[in-house]
Amino acid sequence: MKAPHRLEAYDKVTGKACYTADLAHGPVDGPLAHTAVVQSTQATGRIEAIDTAAALALEGVHCVMTHLDAPRLKPVHTLPGGELTRFQPLQDSRLHYNGQPVALVIADTAEQAQRAAACVTIRYAAPEQPPLLVLDEQKAERPQMVGVGEPGTTERGDPDTAFAMAEQTFEQVYETASHHHNALEPGAAIAAWDSHGRLTLYLGTQYSYGDAYGLAQAFDMGLQKDFMEVMKTGSPEEALRDKVRIIVPFVGGAFGGKKGNVHPLLAAMAAKRTGRPVKLALTRRQTFSMMPYRGATRQRVRLGGGKDGRLQVLMQDALIQNSTTSNFIEPVGEMTPKLYASKHLRTQHKTARLDVNAPSWMRAPGVAVSQFAIESAMDEWAYQQGIDPLEARLRNYADQEPQSGHEWSSKSLKDCYQAAAERIGWQSRDPRLGAQQEGRFKVGYGMATSIYHVAQMAACARMRIRADGTAVASSSTHEIGQGSATALSQLAAEALGLPLGSVTLEWGDTRLPYSSLTASSSTTLSLGAALHAAADALRLKLGTLASTDPASPLHMTNPAELKLQESGLVSQTGRQESFVSLLTRHQLDYLEAEAGTADQINPPEVGRAAFGAQFVKVLVDPQLGTLRVERLVGAFGCGRIVNPTLAHSQLLGGMVWGLGQALMEETRLDRHNGRWMNADLSEALIPTQADVPDLDIIMIEEDDRRGHPLGIKGLGEIAVVGVAAAVANAIFHATGQRIRTLPLTLDKRLIL
Ligand code: MOS
Repeated sequence: MKAPHRLEAYDKVTGKACYTADLAHGPVDGPLAHTAVVQSTQATGRIEAIDTAAALALEGVHCVMTHLDAPRLKPVHTLPGGELTRFQPLQDSRLHYNGQPVALVIADTAEQAQRAAACVTIRYAAPEQPPLLVLDEQKAERPQMVGVGEPGTTERGDPDTAFAMAEQTFEQVYETASHHHNALEPGAAIAAWDSHGRLTLYLGTQYSYGDAYGLAQAFDMGLQKDFMEVMKTGSPEEALRDKVRIIVPFVGGAFGGKKGNVHPLLAAMAAKRTGRPVKLALTRRQTFSMMPYRGATRQRVRLGGGKDGRLQVLMQDALIQNSTTSNFIEPVGEMTPKLYASKHLRTQHKTARLDVNAPSWMRAPGVAVSQFAIESAMDEWAYQQGIDPLEARLRNYADQEPQSGHEWSSKSLKDCYQAAAERIGWQSRDPRLGAQQEGRFKVGYGMATSIYHVAQMAACARMRIRADGTAVASSSTHEIGQGSATALSQLAAEALGLPLGSVTLEWGDTRLPYSSLTASSSTTLSLGAALHAAADALRLKLGTLASTDPASPLHMTNPAELKLQESGLVSQTGRQESFVSLLTRHQLDYLEAEAGTADQINPPEVGRAAFGAQFVKVLVDPQLGTLRVERLVGAFGCGRIVNPTLAHSQLLGGMVWGLGQALMEETRLDRHNGRWMNADLSEALIPTQADVPDLDIIMIEEDDRRGHPLGIKGLGEIAVVGVAAAVANAIFHATGQRIRTLPLTLDKRLIL
C-alpha cells in the first residue's frame, strides 16, 4: 500500500484545523470569559500585599483571583515531569520562582483582562536569602530514582578498579544549557463546570488522561486509584468519566512540555470561581516560566581502556539542574549502559534544586544531552589513541545488549554507520586536524552515535465495524503534529483488513478509551498495539457470529483461526464472508470490541533500542570564527516504518532540533532575580530555514518482530540525538579546538 499523506494536511494548510486557542466558545453553554495571568517578579520571598482595586475598576473585569480567594486545592500525584505535585498556584503567599502565577484576571474580553493585569500591584517581602540560581554541585543531592523510576545509579563490573588499572584513561567535563520547548502553539485551555459539578476542558495536551486525573485530584473529586497504577495498566477508574472530561483539539507541538501544566488548573479554578466557561491562553513570553523546559547539565565522563581504543570502563556523572517545585529528574544516563561494550560501567545522577520553574521532559529526554557528552568523549578518546573516530565506535560495538547480556531484538547500527559515512564521504576526507580547506574555510567532518529507547506504554482502543462495511477506531490519543492520526489510521485499517478510506480514527477525548501519553516516540507502537488488540477481540466476536451461523460460508469454522482480510473474515482454507453480509444478515448496525495492552508491557528477554549515526560536515571561517554546518547525514534503524513520508518528516524535524541544540538553543537566567532573560522567539534562538543545511536521511528498515509482533520501534526523538556531538567533533577536526559546552556559539569559537 502506498503511504498516504497526512490525513489532516488539507485542514491544516487551509486553516480549518482547530487548536485550543482558536475556539471562541466553551465546552459548556454560557458566555466565555477571558483571562490574563499576573506573574511574580521575584523568585523567592513572600507576597505582602496585592492591590487589585485599580484592575477591578476597569470595564469588563469580573474578578482578580489571588491566593487570598482562589479555590483551595488538594495534592496532585500524577506523572513525574510537572510541578503540581510540589507546587499549586494561588494557594499561599510564598514565592518559588520568578514568573510564578500570583493572580488571574477574569474579564469579558482578553484585551480587558490584559489591561487589568497590568494594573495589579504587588508588594513583596524580601527573601531571607538570595535565590539559588546557579547549578552548584555542593548544593546537589543524589536521587534514588530518575525519570519515571529509572535507577539513579547503574553499574556493572568494578568501574573504579578498572579505571585505576587502565593503560589509557580520559576524563573531561561537558556542559549543556537550559533550553525551552517553544512549541509553535503556546499553552491554552478552556474550562467549564456544568450544573452536575462536572469539569470539561478543551486543552492542548499530550496526555489527556493524565491531566484529567490531576484535575480530579486537585478538586478532590473522589478518585481512588493510584495514578502510576493507572498508567501502568492503562485502566482509569470508571468514575473519572463523570468527573472530568478533556477534549483535545489539534496540538501545535508538545515535545514533552504539554502535560501536567499549571494553566489548565488555573483555568478550571477561574471557571469554578466565576461560574462561567473560561479561556486561558498564555503569551509566548509566559510560556517560558509557566511551561517547562530542559534544565542545564554538567557531566563528567571518564573512559579507560587500551591503546587499541577498546574501552574497559565508562563512567558518567551527571549533575542536573532542577527546581524546588519539580518532581522530575532528567534521566541523563538512561541509555549509556546500552551503548558500548565496555565491561565496567557506572552512570550516576545528582540534582540541584534551584529557585526556578520546573524543568521537565524535553525531546529525547536525557539521551539528547548525554550523547553530547559521551560522543564528544568518544571522539576525544579516538584522537587520543590515534584511531579514526568511526573505527573507535566499531571497536566498542555492543553485539549484545551490554547491560543485560541479552541478544538484541534487532540492531542495524553498523549499517547506519556505513550508509551515513558513505553518503558524506567520510573515507575521502583528510583525517588530519585542520588540514582540509575550501576557499578560506577550514573543513571538518564529525560523527556520533545516536540511540533511543523503545517504549511501549499500556493503552486501550475500541474498534467498531458497521453494517455498511466501514469502521471506527477510537482511543483518546493526541495528534501533536507528528502524524500519529495518519499512521494509526493505517494501522487500524491494516488490523481490520479494510482499505484506509473505510476507517475513521477518533481521538482526542477522554470519553474514548484510555490512551497512553503521547511521548517517548512510543505512540505508533503503543496505540498501534492497542488497535491490533481491539481488532483481535472484534475478530473473535465476528468469528463466533459467523461460525455459529448455518447461513454463513464460515459455519463450523474455528473463530480463533479466522483472519480479518479483504473487508471480511477469511478462513484458513480460503472460505470467506464480508463484514457487510455478516452484519446485515444478523440485522446488526455494528459490532464492536475494546481491548488494552497491559499484558504486553513486561519487556521481552531481548535487548531493545533504536540506533542511528549522525555525520556532519562543517566549514569554519578561521578569521571570523563563524561556523556553517554544510551537510548533515543521519541514518537510523527504527524497526518497521509505517509511513515513510511521515517518518522522514519526523527524522528531519529531529535533526533540526539537534542543530538547534548544537548551535543556538540556550535560555539564560538572570543570576540576580531568576528571570528568563531571552524569553521570546527573537532572542531564544532556534534554527530557521536559512540555518538548516542540506539534510540527508537514510532509513534502514529492520525486522524487529522479536521485539514486538508489530515490528515497530518508534522514531522521532532519536534524530535529535548525536547531532550536537557530531558538530562539536567536526569543529575539532576543522580547527583543533574542542568545545565542551553547548551551544557551540561564536564566543566559544573565536579562540582560533
Ligand atoms: Mo517527549 S519529551 O517524549 O514528549
